[in-house]
Amino acid sequence: MQNLKSELLTLLRMEETSSSEFRKASKAFCSLLAGEAFNHFSMENFSIRTPVEKTTGLKRKKAAVLIPILRSGIAMLDPFLEFFEEARVGFFGFERDEKTFLPKHYYQNIPVFNQEDKIILLDPMLATGGTLLEALRLLIEKKASEENIIIASVIAAPEGIEAVKKLYPNVKLVLGTVDHKLNEKCFIVPGLGDFGDRYFGTLIP
Ligand code: URA
Repeated sequence: MQNLKSELLTLLRMEETSSSEFRKASKAFCSLLAGEAFNHFSMENFSIRTPVEKTTGLKRKKAAVLIPILRSGIAMLDPFLEFFEEARVGFFGFERDEKTFLPKHYYQNIPVFNQEDKIILLDPMLATGGTLLEALRLLIEKKASEENIIIASVIAAPEGIEAVKKLYPNVKLVLGTVDHKLNEKCFIVPGLGDFGDRYFGTLIP
């Protein structure tokens, strides 16, 4: 899978990749990430019958709650729903204050969940971690258990990973890759630019 991930990530990074190619690569890459997130679920045995004989099958034990962070997390929702078909879906809306780079919370619609459910936060770029820290704080406030929260991101910066691990050491991270650093505008380097703009085709030429 590593070669496939590297090729898709290269397409996502390349400046000349069109929006439609970007969406296609993003969908494929996020499907691979969803597969990795599956590894954090415990499984249980159940009896099945093949056309040949009875045997034991495996299924996921806990339900999933998917929470894309608006706007770019929307890009990850469909590929994750392919694997977590029964998932309840919620939304957090944050926008970045371009002066302070701090996240401003403007929307939430979070489904009812119990402490056993696994909550997967979808945010393609784990940069400073500010947005995700705020989302984690809000989820913990709603009594989510830290060890049942998974963050799935396409690219992460070491600064963001450290920030999340410092405050929420039991949260699981499913990361496509870890890049070098953040630049002065808090973009991931080398990164891929603004994920949302590239995915939604809203880059100003
Ligand atoms: N968000 C993005 O879309 N890209 C970055 O590099 C950082 C945050």
